[in-house]
Amino acid sequence: MFVQRNEFEVESFRNANILVTGGAGFVGSNLVRRLVELGANVTVLDNFFTGFKENLTQLPVQIIDGDVEDGELVKRLVQTSEYVFHLAVRNIIVSTKEPMKDFLTNVGGTLNVLQACLAEKEHIKRLVYTSSVSIYGNAKYLPINEDDPKTILNPYAASKLSAENYCMAYFETYEVPVSIVRYSNVYGPNQRPENPYCGVISKFIASAFSNSPLTVYGDGEQTRDFTFVDDAVDATVRAAIVSPGLVFNVGSGVETSINSLASTVISIIGSKSSVQYVDKRDIDDVRRRVLNIDLARRVLRWSPSTSLIPGLKKTIEWFESKKDEQQ
Ligand SMILES: NC(=O)c1ccc[n+]([C@@H]2O[C@H](COP(=O)([O-])OP(=O)(O)OC[C@H]3O[C@@H](n4cnc5c(N)ncnc54)[C@H](O)[C@@H]3O)[C@@H](O)[C@H]2O)c1
Repeated sequence: MFVQRNEFEVESFRNANILVTGGAGFVGSNLVRRLVELGANVTVLDNFFTGFKENLTQLPVQIIDGDVEDGELVKRLVQTSEYVFHLAVRNIIVSTKEPMKDFLTNVGGTLNVLQACLAEKEHIKRLVYTSSVSIYGNAKYLPINEDDPKTILNPYAASKLSAENYCMAYFETYEVPVSIVRYSNVYGPNQRPENPYCGVISKFIASAFSNSPLTVYGDGEQTRDFTFVDDAVDATVRAAIVSPGLVFNVGSGVETSINSLASTVISIIGSKSSVQYVDKRDIDDVRRRVLNIDLARRVLRWSPSTSLIPGLKKTIEWFESKKDEQQ
């Protein structure tokens, strides 16, 4: 069955013209690699705010150094695309500091993409928007279902939910074929610690390698649902080839505490690091998070294939390969 699904993906994307916004970023660059492997002609639109050209080294893609806020540019690029994966974003930390800028990129940029897809509706096969579990805030029920209440705790979550709502509005009103994936704490290769806004796993690995303390906010018993990037990419690609108008949780379905994550990273690396507890963060102060991923399992015929320890080992190997390159 797995082989058949892969063949289906290959057929869908072989020679297809695909635009990936935010394609030089962490998830975007992993997605671009997968699409290239599937035989697609990929164009990346990225302003390199948190993206890195090195993430796309040796990939035969067209790179446009530009902004999703530039509606004319987005329109021009969508004109020659059959699929659009829209990942460009200003992250949660920057968003909280500059909510207006967040709005312009995360909401305005998404509207530019939607307008362009509407204008080119005849040949757009799918727009996939990558949303975030941050829209659930401190969830009332666990595991979190897609239609559970949304609680907006910061401007980033507001912008992600707003962009989702615009996506669904364009689907319902104008039949722009949109799919939405809601990622939970993605980690893996290309999540660079040089990016000050990278996720907790990258920060922990970087600290563990240098035997410096791993900083934990609060008591460390808060939980997250960590998703290996290849699994997130797999779900994202599949979301482009099922019926449009659906929203999918994308996670591992497994709840992991930050304390347990810290000790696992320290033990895999064999580090001498300790854990340093500091006051809990003002942003993303969510106690427990784990997703119900049944809808994605059923409709996308997807399931996460890399659990935390193998995923951490692959990520750590990638860190080591980067260190070797620098020496
Ligand atoms: N990484 C996660 O854990 C996670 C969790 C939930 C949702 N997401 C979503 O996944 C997507 C990718 O996130 P990521 O972790 O790869 O982040 P990232 O910061 O690595 O990637 C975002 C990319 O967008 C680019 N960008 C920013 N502003 C832009 C603009 N105005 N025009 C063009 N490009 C711009 C950045 O340079 C970067 O390359 C985002 O939509 C994010 O909301 C990620």
